[in-house]
Amino acid sequence: MKAVQVIGYGDVDQLKVTDIPIPKPKEHEVLVQVKACAINNTEIWMREGAYGKGEKSGWRPEGVQFPRTPGSDITGKVVQVGSQVYETMLDKDVVLFPFTSSGEEGQEHIAGDMSFIGSEYDGGYAEYVVWQAELCFDMPLDDYTKSCVFSVSGMTAWHMVEQVKPKPGETVIVTGANGGVGSLNVQIVSNVFGADVIALVGDLKLEEHMKELGATHVLSYKSNKLEEEILSANGGPVDTVLDVVGDALFSTSLNVLKKGGKFCTSGSSGGQKTELDFRTLYLKHITMYGSVLGTREEFKRMLRAISDNKIKPVIDRTFPLEEAKEAQQYFKKSGKKGKIVLIP
Ligand SMILES: NC(=O)c1ccc[n+]([C@@H]2O[C@H](COP(=O)([O-])OP(=O)(O)OC[C@H]3O[C@@H](n4cnc5c(N)ncnc54)[C@H](OP(=O)(O)O)[C@@H]3O)[C@@H](O)[C@H]2O)c1
Repeated sequence: MKAVQVIGYGDVDQLKVTDIPIPKPKEHEVLVQVKACAINNTEIWMREGAYGKGEKSGWRPEGVQFPRTPGSDITGKVVQVGSQVYETMLDKDVVLFPFTSSGEEGQEHIAGDMSFIGSEYDGGYAEYVVWQAELCFDMPLDDYTKSCVFSVSGMTAWHMVEQVKPKPGETVIVTGANGGVGSLNVQIVSNVFGADVIALVGDLKLEEHMKELGATHVLSYKSNKLEEEILSANGGPVDTVLDVVGDALFSTSLNVLKKGGKFCTSGSSGGQKTELDFRTLYLKHITMYGSVLGTREEFKRMLRAISDNKIKPVIDRTFPLEEAKEAQQYFKKSGKKGKIVLIP
């Protein structure tokens, strides 16, 4: 089968289009013919070794075993089942829950042995992938490309929002609001939880698009009066910040949070390290939440919200699998509208 593999830490030249054998499903696994695979920053940082603090490493400290087929947001058709899997799974259109873990239900995402498809297992930059049958769920929409874009960014967004539990009448700032995670944060906060959203984007040409997704106000993070604009749009400080940007918007976020406000972080597109004056945190009674992915139950709740049309796929563009290099370079560009998808 055709696959794109990462052959070592480094730049996009470490991605190689290659032919490798079709994998065989073990007893509890299925073989999925990949129809679409969305791109995440995860596999870019995996290739760059950017998860390591100092040393290059994967997101697990022991590093990545190369060659590795990346890709974790996968939809496709089950074409073969392992010996312990019911044949009724054959021909099913599925979306893959992206990691394994021995963690108890509700704690899967914080278990020490959490292992990720596309990082510890070969993933979806390929024509076929094997995965545990019990981690394959019915596709939420009648379209492979539209259904593949939620797994990692959607579950991350869903878990962030469930942690901070916004209520109608409250205001939530969503940073990186035009990106993969942010565009889902906007929709989940507004369309599922009923709170108001201030969406922060770079380019205000995206205003209409963000309002269609559910944003109440859209502001540019490039403005040198951003704090004032936020306070004026909301008529005062905000209840919560859902952040994927990190350093670039950290002090602004803390400054515009109300006393008793919540700050939830799951990413650092705008800088991994920052300065913090502890007084801001304790004098304002701010609660901080760290967030990685989510649980299987959250994944199922998210799939239901997608089937119910409460959250919609936002797809900037697709690339053929062979153009994975170009697709990853494009992913890094500013001003995208949602997700980038590879089609084998
Ligand atoms: N914890 C988890 O489980 C998890 C899961 C998925 C992703 N993540 C992380 O979340 C982050 C976002 O991922 P994504 O898939 O949403 O990426 P993405 O689609 O590339 O979106 C990145 C967003 O960040 C904004 N941004 C970048 N630099 C900025 C800056 N200096 N100031 C303000 N905004 C800036 C971008 O705005 P412009 O387009 O205007 O540049 C864009 O809206 C990444 O760090 C990723 O690793 C974490």
